[in-house]
Amino acid sequence: MKILALNSSPHSGGQSKTELMLNHLVEGMRDAGAEVEVVNLRQKAVKNCIGCYTCWTKTPGRCIHKDDMTNELFPKWLKSELVVYATPLYNFTMNAEMKVFFERCLPALEPFIELRDNRTAHPWRQAPSQAVVLSVAGFPEMSVFEQLSNYVKFLFGRSDALWAEIYRPAAESLSMIEDKKEEVLKATVQAGRELVKSRRVSVETLARIQQPIIDFPTFAQIGNLFWKSCIDEGVTPKEFQEKKMVPRPNSIKDFMILLPLGLNIEAAGKKTVILQFKFSGDLKDSCYFVIENGNVDAKEGTQENPDITIETPFELWMDIITGKADGQQMFREQKYKVNGNLVLMIQLFQKESDPG
Ligand SMILES: Cc1cc2nc3c(=O)[nH]c(=O)nc-3n(C[C@H](O)[C@H](O)[C@H](O)COP(=O)(O)O)c2cc1C
Repeated sequence: MKILALNSSPHSGGQSKTELMLNHLVEGMRDAGAEVEVVNLRQKAVKNCIGCYTCWTKTPGRCIHKDDMTNELFPKWLKSELVVYATPLYNFTMNAEMKVFFERCLPALEPFIELRDNRTAHPWRQAPSQAVVLSVAGFPEMSVFEQLSNYVKFLFGRSDALWAEIYRPAAESLSMIEDKKEEVLKATVQAGRELVKSRRVSVETLARIQQPIIDFPTFAQIGNLFWKSCIDEGVTPKEFQEKKMVPRPNSIKDFMILLPLGLNIEAAGKKTVILQFKFSGDLKDSCYFVIENGNVDAKEGTQENPDITIETPFELWMDIITGKADGQQMFREQKYKVNGNLVLMIQLFQKESDPG
């Protein structure tokens, strides 16, 4: 099977969730024997349709523009059996690059007017390829894809060409929750295999791809801290990621949500580990973390027999976790104290930032 995968995200590498999902879908498709070509629309020159109808009149089937769409993409699109349209969700629909691509497919239609399924339509000059739509969104609700879904169902549904719609909400939050991310990406590979083998994605696989990964209060709290840190530090999300920065907690509640995401939980092994914080300074308060079976539970107050107790001014510890102060140097200068298993403490805080 010859597949053309169009990616309209302006981003690439670790920053693009469209690319992340598409790469895994394509991996599954290739694994099932398909020949897949991926085209990044951001690297192509595709002009806007100017509505001249030259493609319907003077040069039927051929656009007036001489650009990558006319010379390369449109012919490829016509020859492909299946086209994957991968777009980030912008303003609750496909982004502009993908919309321009769709508009530039006008030469595939003839100008004549007919009634199809009780609706006005133009006949196809050549039957369109089968379609899969893949999209990722920042917000966590599945309902954010409703507009896009209605639109693509309208476009492709009439010719029964739409094999699958694959939508991943809260895509930017995926990299915060490593095991969920892995599960979603594995399911996306599986979706690629299923599409090639059976022209559809099973309900079970779609459910795994779309599974909720974060509750709204946590999503909003982390998101707001992230944006506030970007504003305070004067960096874009890309720069934030490249510099491996972490959002700065402003309160003990923020700290209790954020710390578990940065801990190297595996260091605890099969043991239950209690990590206690006693804060001094302006923010005198305590909280502790119970690390058990690969999970971290954050609790307010103190626990009787913690494995590790860190006594520190709140702002100093926030400086350390955001890289503004050197943890080892501050320890040597006795700016904070650690009681208990110091080796384990060092291991717990040794987590490589994930670029994806
Ligand atoms: C201009 C713009 C509009 C966006 N609109 C929406 C939106 O309507 N709903 C949403 O949930 N996310 C929206 N987002 C967030 C993106 O869908 C989300 O960050 C996605 O992961 C981006 O894909 P990428 O990582 O491939 O760039 C928008 C982002 C931008 C830049």
